[in-house]
Parts: sequence; C-alpha cells; structure tokens
Amino acid sequence: ISLSQLHTFALPAYAKRLIRIEDPTELQTIDWQAPFIVLGEGSNTVFVDDYQGVIIQIANKGIEISESTDAYILNVAAGENWHQLVTECTEQGIYGFENLALIPGTVGAAPVQNIGAYGVEVKDLITSVSGYNIEQGEYQTLTAAECQFAYRDSIFKHALLGKFVITSVEFTLTKAWQPQLTYGPLQDLNAPSALQVMQAVIAIRSNKLPDPAVEANSGSFFKNPIVPNTLIESLDKQYENMPTYPVCANTAKLAAGWLIEKAGLKGFKMGGVQVSNKQALVLINTGTATSDDLLAMVAHIQNKVFSQFGVVLEHEVRLVAKTGETKVEVAAC
Ligand code: EPU
Repeated sequence: ISLSQLHTFALPAYAKRLIRIEDPTELQTIDWQAPFIVLGEGSNTVFVDDYQGVIIQIANKGIEISESTDAYILNVAAGENWHQLVTECTEQGIYGFENLALIPGTVGAAPVQNIGAYGVEVKDLITSVSGYNIEQGEYQTLTAAECQFAYRDSIFKHALLGKFVITSVEFTLTKAWQPQLTYGPLQDLNAPSALQVMQAVIAIRSNKLPDPAVEANSGSFFKNPIVPNTLIESLDKQYENMPTYPVCANTAKLAAGWLIEKAGLKGFKMGGVQVSNKQALVLINTGTATSDDLLAMVAHIQNKVFSQFGVVLEHEVRLVAKTGETKVEVAAC
C-alpha cells in the first residue's frame, strides 16, 4: 500500500497492511502483536521509511449533540474531520470551536497533541476521551484531567503511547459564549460574532499556511520552545521585537518560526524540501522530497537555531520509521 496519500507531507513510503476502522467494536478483534500505528488523516505524521507494521486508520463517523441549560455536549466520532466539525457547529449556533478553524486532521487526533491556535487549545473544550485500551483489552473513558493535557502534549504521547486507540471525544461548549481575541491578529475585531471570528481565523490561516492539498506539508513542523526568562533577557538585547509568550513566572515561549527566519532559513531548500516563504515554521514537500532530504533539513534547522540562539527545537510532527516513531535531535556538541 502506498502511504503517500495517507500523510499530508506525502513522502513516497509503503506499508504492508492497512486496516480501516469504521466501527470501533472491530478494535477488539485485531491481533495487536505486530508493530502498528494509529492514523487519522496523517496531517501530523510523516512516514520517513517503509512501515513494517500495520496501519490502523480510524474512520468512524457520527456527531451526537445534547444540551443542558448552560451548555451543549457533543459526542463526536474520532474519524470525523476536525474543520468540518468546527464549521458545522459554528453555523448551527454552537460556539467555542471557531478559533480552531482550518486545522487539518481528525477529531480523534485533536486530543493527542492538544491542537491549539489563536489563544484556544482543544483541552479547554474537552470533557472526556473514549477509546480502546489495547493492553487491558477494554473500552475506557478518560476524563480531561486524566488526559494530562499540556502544550501540544497529552498522555496519549506518553504513558498511553501505542496502548490506546481514541474512538470518540466529548466536548462541552458553554452557551455563555465569549470570543477569545487575545491573539495578535484577532485583537482588531470589535465585538465579533463566532462566525466572524471563524472567518477571520480562516483568512489568517489561508494567508500564511500553505494548503496541504496544494503544497504537501504537515503544518507547524516544530514546537514553539519554552525557555527560561534569563535566556529571553539576553536575546532581547540582541534582537529587536522578538515575539515571546509568557508561560509561567520563570519561563516563556519563543516563536520557532521567528527563530528559523532569523537564522536565515526562510525559503531555504534542501533537495525537495523547502522552508515555507510565508511561515518559516512550515516545511514543504516541493514534489520531489525524499526522507533523506527531510531528515537532513530538520537536523540543519535544529543545529542552526541551536548554534545561533542556544535554543533546542523539538519537532512537533511525528516521524515514523520502519517499526515506529523516531526523533531527530540537536547534534551533541
Ligand atoms: N514569525 C516570524 N517568521 C515566520 C513565522 C513566524 O517572524 O516565518 C513570527 C510572527 O510574526 C509572530 C510569531 O512568530 O510574531 C508567531 O507566529 P504565528 O502567529 O504564525 O504563530 P506560530 O507560533 O508560528 C502557532 C502554532 C500554530 C497556530 C498559530 C496560531 C505551534 C507549533 N504552532 O504558530 O499551529 O496555528 O500559533 O495560534 O504552536 C500547528 O500546530 O500545526 C499550527 C499551525
């Protein structure tokens, strides 16, 4: 099976077997011995080699909506498309998702990396996540607290990595909706409706982020690094207008896209991989990229940013090699 259509970075890789799950009860019939990987729409996963195990593609559908006096409660199948959920809800008068418009991928993938944009993270809207625990052989529901959400992170990338298949997500969206406008470009909106917020987010994203259907990419390739304030203070003296976002008393987040641009890499090409000209945090497959091009590019960016700023960039995108996930790290000095 060719994997190029199954991940949005579209490298030419192959796998022996794919199981498409439309009914979650099928999960208990699978032989979980071989290496396997669970995939939604592949917008945050890149296959950097032929995969030797089984690909489990989650494709169940369904959105159930109920309501209490003060909130809507949505139970959404993991295989639903995220952006479609956002637009359908916003158009129906169910608000809270609008800042997260146009994020690629499925509903089931959203909690794994706690997707976020424009001042909202999906963890703010999730009440529970249900799925199949492979190790224990049973269906379980985790509360939001049990999911251990953090910036682009959750228990599904750690203790439950490779052990839990998400089949549905429950969201609670308050009826006392307030727009979330703290993020730069949204601050100019004046008492907007949720629909207007969604339209603004769609406009910003379409302007800056290449559409994976047109130019193959995986969205933000690196996480925004969290660094000590002492480093920020020393960098602030050298660079004007460096964007920073406070995290806690002693740390703040830097913009990885800004660091990559300041390292002179915006638009930089290595074989068939290019740093986007519009948003340096996005890597593009120009059509001929190989996994060697990509791995070399990732290492090059990490090493350049580290030597110029002393900052370690971690890739947000999950790289999958022959039998499982792999990481590219800054070269030891
Ligand atoms: N910047 C540059 N040069 C660049 C890119 C960015 O100077 O090439 C500067 C911008 O001017 C801005 C700052 O860096 O001052 C932040 O840039 P931007 O607003 O584009 O957001 P980001 O931090 O690069 C994050 C998320 C995005 C999310 C946006 C909006 C991560 C890793 N990325 O990007 O999420 O859409 O904020 O909230 O947290 C994704 O995860 O795939 C993703 C697209």
